[in-house]
Amino acid sequence: MAIELQWEIPVPAALSNLETLLNRVADACFAEEGIEGAGFAVRIVDDDAIRALNREMRNIDRPTDVLSFPTVSYPAGKTARDCPKRLRREYDPYLGRVNLGDCVINLERARRQAAEYGHSLTRELSYLTAHSAFHLMGYDHMNEEEKIIMRDREEKALDRLGITRQEGGISYDALFELACEAMQKAYCPYSKFQVGACILAEDGRTFQGCNFENASYGASICAERCATANAIVHGARRFRAIAVVGSSAVAWPCGICRQVLREFSDLDMPVIVGEFGKGYVVRTLGELLPESFSPEDLGVTVG
Ligand code: THU
Repeated sequence: MAIELQWEIPVPAALSNLETLLNRVADACFAEEGIEGAGFAVRIVDDDAIRALNREMRNIDRPTDVLSFPTVSYPAGKTARDCPKRLRREYDPYLGRVNLGDCVINLERARRQAAEYGHSLTRELSYLTAHSAFHLMGYDHMNEEEKIIMRDREEKALDRLGITRQEGGISYDALFELACEAMQKAYCPYSKFQVGACILAEDGRTFQGCNFENASYGASICAERCATANAIVHGARRFRAIAVVGSSAVAWPCGICRQVLREFSDLDMPVIVGEFGKGYVVRTLGELLPESFSPEDLGVTVG
């Protein structure tokens, strides 16, 4: 195992598999750098804890997203690939690997950043871990040239895992706003409960939907499935996020909609759910639909 994950806050159920993911991220970073047998600790903390560390270690009294504490000091302009002897000195027989140091991640900030960039929390945590891994291997971003090199390494490492840069990310606020706009189009003379939805597809396009009812009540269609149909007919197959809003209560997606979304979404897809004029909360699809039945169970890959 390349990393050792240490939770310094309670583990959210949706992140119980995080260690496996971050190990893959660390391995990809090491492969990119061309080193083997290395590892580091990843500590997951909150705003208060990282602020205290930032104050103590760097004299900066505010929270940040990630801090890196390397054990190896690299000569100027050199990184891990240039220093095999130095690395060997940090071999930890107890762990059976070269210890590069500690990466400390602030989960609260990671959640906020994921929301800002319009991507999943696991994607943000993968990015922060890769960023820290390269710091622990001697990279920095003090000037523009260094910054370009470091970003390039991070991106190439994440590319190896298929975690590519996704263009056209929009904020949860903006996606929720589009759901609110769609809600105004709802056709609901029976329930008078308007619902709007907006899907963010993998390629950055957004697809709105609203509920539309029928005199034969059972023929009614929810906003989420209307948005799904809209996405599918425009050629989208993978969803990155969905926002759903109800006119007079929080519009939690119904069971059928959760299952329909599962067809085109991973379990870590953010579901932004709220009530018009009152804000929203963010859950993952996996939290709304645990132990789900999915296309993979029938050997189908959607994409
Ligand atoms: N509805 C949705 O559109 N989405 C949901 O997630 C919950 C329910 C609609 C269906 C129906 O038109 C109305 O709300 C009342 O059930």
